[in-house]
Amino acid sequence: LGWQDVDIEDAIPGVMSPTGTRDGAPYYRVEMRPGTHSHHPDIPDTKVWGYKGPNDAEGQYPGKTIEAAVNRRLKVEFVNELPDQHIFDVDTRVHGTTWEDYDEEWASQYDGAFPEVRTSTHAHGLHVESASDGLPEQWSSSSANGADVITGPQFEKAVYDYTNRQSPATLWYHDHALGTTRLNVYAGLAGFYLLRGPEEERLGLPSGDREVPMLFQDRAFNGPDEDEPTGSYKYPEEFEAEVSGDVSVVNGLAWPRFQVEPRQYRFRLLNGSNGRFFGLAFDNEGGTVPTMYQIGTDLGFLRDAVAVGPDQSKESLLLAPAERADVVVDFSEHAGETLTVTNDAGFPFESPSESTDGSDLPELAQFEVGTGTPQDPVVDPTSLRLPEPEQFSEQATVTTRQMGLVSPENDPSGIDTHLLNEGGLDTEPEHWGDDVVTEPQLGTTEIWELHNQTPDAHPIHLHLVDFQVVGRGPDGTDAPDPTERGNKDTVKVYAGETVRIISRFGNFAGRYVWHCHILEHEDQEMMRPYEVVTRSP
Ligand code: C2O
Ligand code: CU
Repeated sequence: LGWQDVDIEDAIPGVMSPTGTRDGAPYYRVEMRPGTHSHHPDIPDTKVWGYKGPNDAEGQYPGKTIEAAVNRRLKVEFVNELPDQHIFDVDTRVHGTTWEDYDEEWASQYDGAFPEVRTSTHAHGLHVESASDGLPEQWSSSSANGADVITGPQFEKAVYDYTNRQSPATLWYHDHALGTTRLNVYAGLAGFYLLRGPEEERLGLPSGDREVPMLFQDRAFNGPDEDEPTGSYKYPEEFEAEVSGDVSVVNGLAWPRFQVEPRQYRFRLLNGSNGRFFGLAFDNEGGTVPTMYQIGTDLGFLRDAVAVGPDQSKESLLLAPAERADVVVDFSEHAGETLTVTNDAGFPFESPSESTDGSDLPELAQFEVGTGTPQDPVVDPTSLRLPEPEQFSEQATVTTRQMGLVSPENDPSGIDTHLLNEGGLDTEPEHWGDDVVTEPQLGTTEIWELHNQTPDAHPIHLHLVDFQVVGRGPDGTDAPDPTERGNKDTVKVYAGETVRIISRFGNFAGRYVWHCHILEHEDQEMMRPYEVVTRSP
């Protein structure tokens, strides 16, 4: 397979149109449906599952971008119209895939087969009420062909309420059903959610065709077989905790060579892989490369732009699954050149000191810069006055929690399991179904110390909140990396280290979750509920 030429404008996912209005707010009805997707001229068209908006003929992968504005409410209804059989093998040893894995009283209402295909759609990074969060047990089975829908034990409502009361940021929506998130996302259920606001508009960043969301993923493919006119993704039949693909896919395009102009661009980078980390840099076969300026992270702008490139403070930009980076790149001095986007992160990923010994997926994309007249950059990223991220105060901390990330030797499931330990480091780690033990009080500030007691890195994500990294390293006292000095919702915790994060548990009380965003780990119990409470402990 070679590079495929793609005009950069054609690589920008389309924008989701509203279906109408509800209670005075734009209303989106988004169906999950099968689709056929072309990744590359030399890969047979592939069966995917995608999100279908009102103007789409079938499920789209990636899903169209939901465009939102700060403080403007949206209503979204995600409807499962998928077939009742999964396109991948569902290993029922994974937690959440049989009746026995759920609350007994709830399960006793049903007889018959457990629904194999379930979806619950989470807007990652968005601060929402619990009932609209797309929690793992808020799933619905398929309503295709008039089937009776079964809803998970925590399902509360079909139409989600997104208030968008937070800073502008690059968010994304993706599936989150208990026990099959990894399969549903791998099948194609992911899209961007861009939250915009005036503080960002006044920066004058490149926009329109020069603002490009980029979803980086890895995939593996089967060829077509005799009775199948289409190709299919290859995903292990039996559960594996580490799954990677050998093909780089950006916005659903395998091995893209993007045609760009000799101008400045803004890229909103998202690692949407199940388990692969990406360490992104440019290569120009010995020639000079443009500097990548990172101006934003998961949930908004950085304190200061970070220069990434040779002889800069960072040589590559490391993104774990679910992390985002807002970057500005100027191609004006590279007219007529072809730049390669390289990846220096190994798989599975342990820590940055282990990452430079080569990757099994060393190249991800190319940029072919046109020979037109170069145009001066529209902003100077080093002198931008970036809006200050909201600061959480360490003095205000009421609780410091010790949280372990562990991989027990003998889990009763018999499969490779990772767990979170919330009860103190010397206690037994909790499974998903154990009682809630983490109950922050609404509006209070807490520090969580995440102790990684495993040999791999884990990207840890908290729903509901923004947090800041206070420290990392062997005892959690090293300074955060410059690329994480902004508000985040997902943090890399490297093998053997402790990462300290601070957050204020504001806006909504209720049930949420925190978990590893390696989807194979998340599906097999590296996820726990937590509850923001209003009563005194
Ligand atoms: Cu991106 Cu709980 O997920
Ligand atoms: Cu993990």
